[in-house]
Amino acid sequence: MPCAGVTAWHSLMGGEPLAPGQTALTLGTGALSLFVVQFAKMLGAEVIATTSSAAKADRLKALGADHVVNYAENPEWGLTVRELTGGRGADLVVETNGPDTIEQSMCAAALYGQIVLLITGNPRRPGIEISNAAYAASLATIRRVFVGSRAHFESMNRALTLHGTRPVIDRVFGFDEVHEAFRHYESGAAFGKVVIRVAA
Ligand SMILES: NC(=O)c1ccc[n+]([C@@H]2O[C@H](COP(=O)([O-])OP(=O)(O)OC[C@H]3O[C@@H](n4cnc5c(N)ncnc54)[C@H](OP(=O)(O)O)[C@@H]3O)[C@@H](O)[C@H]2O)c1
Repeated sequence: MPCAGVTAWHSLMGGEPLAPGQTALTLGTGALSLFVVQFAKMLGAEVIATTSSAAKADRLKALGADHVVNYAENPEWGLTVRELTGGRGADLVVETNGPDTIEQSMCAAALYGQIVLLITGNPRRPGIEISNAAYAASLATIRRVFVGSRAHFESMNRALTLHGTRPVIDRVFGFDEVHEAFRHYESGAAFGKVVIRVAA
């Protein structure tokens, strides 16, 4: 909650907050993106989510996503997002990937939309490059977010309590199953948080 949850809340509420009736786009089914789906629906927005898995697509819809696009089958998923929004594009894109996805996110974003870029700039990973063509075709604002403040945490918790929203937990492992827990997370099969229970 204090990391993925707060980052998702800050992404939607910092800057120009997501308004009811606007469209938010999330990438993949990491825990952060699932929080964005839940919060954006709570705020009365339309949600478009991407995933590489048909089974996860069903779970995204059950969580509240209005549309799901398979990015593995459809490398031009940015154009599909535009089509789903009647050509307008998503008002806010929560960009959890970066180098491989930024240009499609720019294509998917509305004119003067917001792209909240969350990757933290690991020097061992490739940096973000934007081609002239992608740059020229988009007027979206790229905003950086690093987790959030205590005030974000408190306002998020008030909203969660009011709406009775629960975080998505994939599986809970015992402390003696820590290796299995990490292997399960590493497999990419999880939908939601992989939890290791620490005995009180
Ligand atoms: N800035 C900050 O303050 C902050 C805070 C927390 C996290 N983060 C960053 O936010 C990102 C997400 O973190 P997380 O822990 O929620 O998730 P995660 O576990 O890193 O996300 C894994 C998921 O990403 C999806 N994915 C992988 N490649 C993709 C692609 N090319 N296009 C779209 N989706 C793709 C896959 O979804 P499917 O299996 O559905 O295909 C995969 O299951 C990480 O980069 C993390 O470092 C930043």
